[in-house]
Amino acid sequence: MSQKALVLEKLGAPLVLQARHIPEPKEHQILVKIIAVGLNPHDQKIRDYGLIITPDHLPYITGNDIAGVVEKVGPGVTAFHPGDRVFAQADTSTPDGGGVQQYALVPADLVAAIPKSMSFDEAATLPTVAMASFIALFHPSGLGLPPPYSKAIAPFNYHQRSLLIIGGGSNCGKLAIQFARLVGFGTTIALAAKTPEKEAELKELGATHVLDRYAEDVAEQCRSIVGDGLLYALDAVNMGPEGHALGVSLLSDSQKGTLVTLLPGGVDESKVGNKPAGYEVKFSQGSGHLHREMGQLFWQCLPGWLEAGKIRPLRYRTISGLDEKAVNEALDAYRDGAGVTKVNVHPHESS
Ligand SMILES: NC(=O)c1ccc[n+]([C@@H]2O[C@H](COP(=O)([O-])OP(=O)(O)OC[C@H]3O[C@@H](n4cnc5c(N)ncnc54)[C@H](OP(=O)(O)O)[C@@H]3O)[C@@H](O)[C@H]2O)c1
Repeated sequence: MSQKALVLEKLGAPLVLQARHIPEPKEHQILVKIIAVGLNPHDQKIRDYGLIITPDHLPYITGNDIAGVVEKVGPGVTAFHPGDRVFAQADTSTPDGGGVQQYALVPADLVAAIPKSMSFDEAATLPTVAMASFIALFHPSGLGLPPPYSKAIAPFNYHQRSLLIIGGGSNCGKLAIQFARLVGFGTTIALAAKTPEKEAELKELGATHVLDRYAEDVAEQCRSIVGDGLLYALDAVNMGPEGHALGVSLLSDSQKGTLVTLLPGGVDESKVGNKPAGYEVKFSQGSGHLHREMGQLFWQCLPGWLEAGKIRPLRYRTISGLDEKAVNEALDAYRDGAGVTKVNVHPHESS
C-alpha cells in the first residue's frame, strides 16, 4: 500500500511529491489518516537551511501539526480506536512520523481526541505553537512556572505577577497569552505591531496591556506598568544576542529575572543595562517528544481547556491536496515575513 508525501530530498531545494509506503503501527503507536496538517515557520527553515535537522535526516517529511482520523492502532493501544478524531505534534525524527503526507505514525501517549465542537482545521492550528508556548512557560528548561494542572498554582499567587510577551502578535505569542490567562497572571503585556484590531484581539485572548513594538518609548511604557518588578519574559520572535537584549533589559534590576526565547542566540550583555541581581536567558525547545512527561500531561489536558473555551484555535487558510507549488509558496511566505495566518494542507484532497 502506498501513499503520497511531500519530501525534502536536499536542503535548499523545494519539497517534492513522491509515493511512499504506508507505515505499520508498532507497539503504542497509532496510524493516523491525516485530514489537515499545519505548517510553521520552522518548516521553511528546515527546507532552506536545515534548522533542527542534519543532512543525514534526508529524505525528510516536514509538517508537525497533525489532525486526522485513527486508521489503525498498534499493540498495547487501548485509549484510541479506528475512526477516532485526533490531533498531535508529529514526530518528524523519522519519515513515517512527518505530517505533510497522507498517513503518519504518532505515539499513543502524545495524542488527544479533537473536541466535538472543533474542526480538523482548527485542531491543526495548535500542536506546535501551543506546545512551544506551554513548554516555554512551564517546563524547567523554560521559565519553569507552575503549570495549570499543578497544586503549586495557588501558593504561587499568579494574580500578583507579571509576564512580558515579546512577539505577542505571533501565533506562539497568541498561545502564550492564553496560557498566561489560564494560570491567572495579574499582568500580561504583549508587544506587537499595534492597531486597534490587534489590540482588541490580543486583549480578547487575555493580554492586559498591548504595547506597540515600533514605539520608540516601548521600554519606558513597559516599565511604567511593571516598574522594576518584571521577573518573567518570553521572546517568541527575536533571534541572536542583539535581538534578545530588549527582553533582558526590561527584566528587574533588583531581582533576578528570566527571559525564555523560542529562537537561540544568547544576549548582548552590553545592551541590557546594569543588572546587579543578575538574570537568566534560556532557549526553549517546544517538543512534547523531547519533554515527554510534560508532553503527556499537555495532551491529557488540552481537550478540556479547548472545550471550556480557555484556549482557542488560530485563524487559518487551507491548501487542497499535496500541491507542491502551493506548499512551497506558503513556506516562501514565511521566509519573506509575509503574514502569519496559519496554513493547513489537506493531503487527501485533489489539488
Ligand atoms: N523553539 C521552539 O520550540 C519553537 C516553536 C515554534 C516556533 N518557534 C519559532 O518561533 C518564532 C515564532 O513562530 P510563530 O509560528 O509564532 O511565528 P509567526 O506567527 O509567523 O510570527 C510572526 C509575527 O511575529 C511578530 N513579530 C515579528 N517580529 C517581531 C518583533 N521584532 N517584535 C515583536 N513581534 C514581532 C509579527 O506580528 P505583529 O506584526 O503582530 O507584531 C509577525 O507577524 C518562529 O521563528 C519559529 O520558528 C520556535
